[in-house]
Amino acid sequence: MSDSYIQNLFAERVGGKNYGKSTAIYKFEKIKRAKRAALDANPGAEILDLGVGEPDEMAFPEVVAKLNEEAHQPANRGYADNGDTVLKEAAARYLEKVCGVRGIDPAIEVLHSIGSKAALSILPAALINPGDYVLMTTPGYPVFGTHSRYYGGLVHQLPLLEANGYLPDLATIPADVLKKSKVLVLNYPNNPTGASATTDFFAEVVAFAKENRLVVLHDAAYAALVFEGKPLSFLATPGAKEVGIELHSTSKSFNMTGWRCGFVAGNELLVRAYGDVKDNTDSGQFLAIQHAAAYCFDHPEITEKIAAKYSRRMTGLVRVLQQCGFKASKPRGSFFLYVKAPRAATSKNSQRLEFKNAEDVSQWLITEKLISTVPWDDAGSYLRFSVTFAAKDQLDEERVLGEIANRLREVKFEF
Ligand SMILES: Cc1ncc(COP(=O)(O)O)c(C=O)c1O
Repeated sequence: MSDSYIQNLFAERVGGKNYGKSTAIYKFEKIKRAKRAALDANPGAEILDLGVGEPDEMAFPEVVAKLNEEAHQPANRGYADNGDTVLKEAAARYLEKVCGVRGIDPAIEVLHSIGSKAALSILPAALINPGDYVLMTTPGYPVFGTHSRYYGGLVHQLPLLEANGYLPDLATIPADVLKKSKVLVLNYPNNPTGASATTDFFAEVVAFAKENRLVVLHDAAYAALVFEGKPLSFLATPGAKEVGIELHSTSKSFNMTGWRCGFVAGNELLVRAYGDVKDNTDSGQFLAIQHAAAYCFDHPEITEKIAAKYSRRMTGLVRVLQQCGFKASKPRGSFFLYVKAPRAATSKNSQRLEFKNAEDVSQWLITEKLISTVPWDDAGSYLRFSVTFAAKDQLDEERVLGEIANRLREVKFEF
């Protein structure tokens, strides 16, 4: 197949003539392979999967019923393009009611997305010229940076460190990079650290953006999944609408990853530019899905129930990991628990094993303990445990947590 003339036609951004020839295996593929191998070696055993980055449950029945009702409406059948008013108005109400953001004009300051990932892939086309810098946090969700690079942009990584509460230190950006920077991408509650932002930090970001003429893009994919208090929207910061936009999604907040619906809100010019590129990218999400998403945004108690479940599981997981020697503390939101990876482990048979990095630990956990996690070696070595593990009910949840404890208890970890 690689003899085909097509092999010579690929764009440099995907590898050019070498497209598809790399033998590197990426992190998530390595995890998948290790899971398969562990199952083959232990037929019938239960893999405890704490590596998944999406909800373990379906959308709520009333949302499915709303989709069914809307799918029967002939008016919803066609191209949605940039959407009707239903989701826009529900989004503005949601921002006000749930996040305390006043004065969002649904007609010009909100547009739907086919999920935040789609919006993150569309927005660079509106902003990035060759040589422009994007400021991104690492570890993090890379999509905006990947597409910025497609357009010849450059990514400057801001490490998220425990010492700084996993907030980026904006003072570390070199002056020559800052001068060429156009966009600062943030995501709180954060994937993978689980950290939340603060109102002070967001105020600092607004001032920094104004001073350095930056666009702020706040990816709020986990915004409403908070364990106490109200969700913190960047748009609730005074002046935020002058500098940026925020991305919300039904994926994690309403158990709707497969449905593909969210919204972009904030600065009118940026929302308009997003809409212009989007109009040349897709023909909009099915209106029935948009209307079901609007129903969700008018029923934030759904997210509160989901967040309460994650909070309960998180408390249990923190307890179990602490008992096993990990320095775990409960985050204020998201469904991710980010803990320092051990340097070594000694098993019951006194065999001591040293780990090179978090990836090494994660592979060992799958192979030896049948526990799946996601390793991050981008700013220190950490493991991400997700509380979206499969469990039928609360009793089953306790059983899974007990099983994690059983499998890890006999190991002595060194950090
Ligand atoms: C930080 C972050 N942003 C965006 C997304 C994608 O969200 P959506 O399903 O709305 O495309 C994810 C999904 O894992 C994520 O973790």
